[in-house]
Amino acid sequence: MTNRPKLVVANRKMHGNLPDNQQFMQSLLQQTRHHRARYAVCPPHPYLYQAQQVLQNSHISWGGQNMSRYEKGAYTGSVSPLMLKEFGCTYVIIGHSERRQRGHDSDETCGERFEAALKAGLTPILCIGETLDEYEQGETDLVVVRQLNPVIAHVGIQALSQGVIAYEPVWAIGTGKAATPQHAQAILSFIRGHIELLDAQAAEETTLLYGGSMNPGNAAQLLSMPDIDGGLIGGAALVAEDFIRICQIANELTPLKSAA
Ligand code: PGA
Repeated sequence: MTNRPKLVVANRKMHGNLPDNQQFMQSLLQQTRHHRARYAVCPPHPYLYQAQQVLQNSHISWGGQNMSRYEKGAYTGSVSPLMLKEFGCTYVIIGHSERRQRGHDSDETCGERFEAALKAGLTPILCIGETLDEYEQGETDLVVVRQLNPVIAHVGIQALSQGVIAYEPVWAIGTGKAATPQHAQAILSFIRGHIELLDAQAAEETTLLYGGSMNPGNAAQLLSMPDIDGGLIGGAALVAEDFIRICQIANELTPLKSAA
């Protein structure tokens, strides 16, 4: 039995506004009081200041949805790791498939972003996962290793375990068709095994998430799997009560003696 506490992260994508965010975060604060699990909210960048005002000194963390690999410079439209840090972020999502598919992130630049995040004191949440085509070709294992290896090569296995890895099959994101708990477990167990080949302790310590149409109806089954340490939640993080329910389920499934 593992001691890893569950982690539930709201990926709010390009949704929300000041009043809606306020209501979402206030509800979350009030209804996740008894917590062994860890919770985080990733709003669009302009709302990080609001997240900091509402969530500071609470049990809920916040983070960005992307960041530059550079500390500063002539990169119009980009946000640096230090800026996220200045607004109190704990986490930053890196390499989400919605960015990879539009050509914004590559396996290589994800390694650089991962390293830059750690250097700034942020915890990167690295997203990996196969497309429907790759899934149907039986290439899932190959794809996740192809996405993971450049990051390991860049930062080393010890540093990898300081971040979080989210397995998000592209065909499950926003489609309402979550992976079965068995499939998600098989791939996350494979990923943990891949890390273990290099460092057993890193494998034991790395937090592995599943993402892709997780909702209050399927969260208990998914989060009961031994290698699923939590969820990255998109659609179900737009309705406060749905997200809170997933947080409560994660809390119930977090071992009492975990280190949260
Ligand atoms: P979803 O999104 O929960 O809406 O499938 C998850 C994600 O994109 O991180």
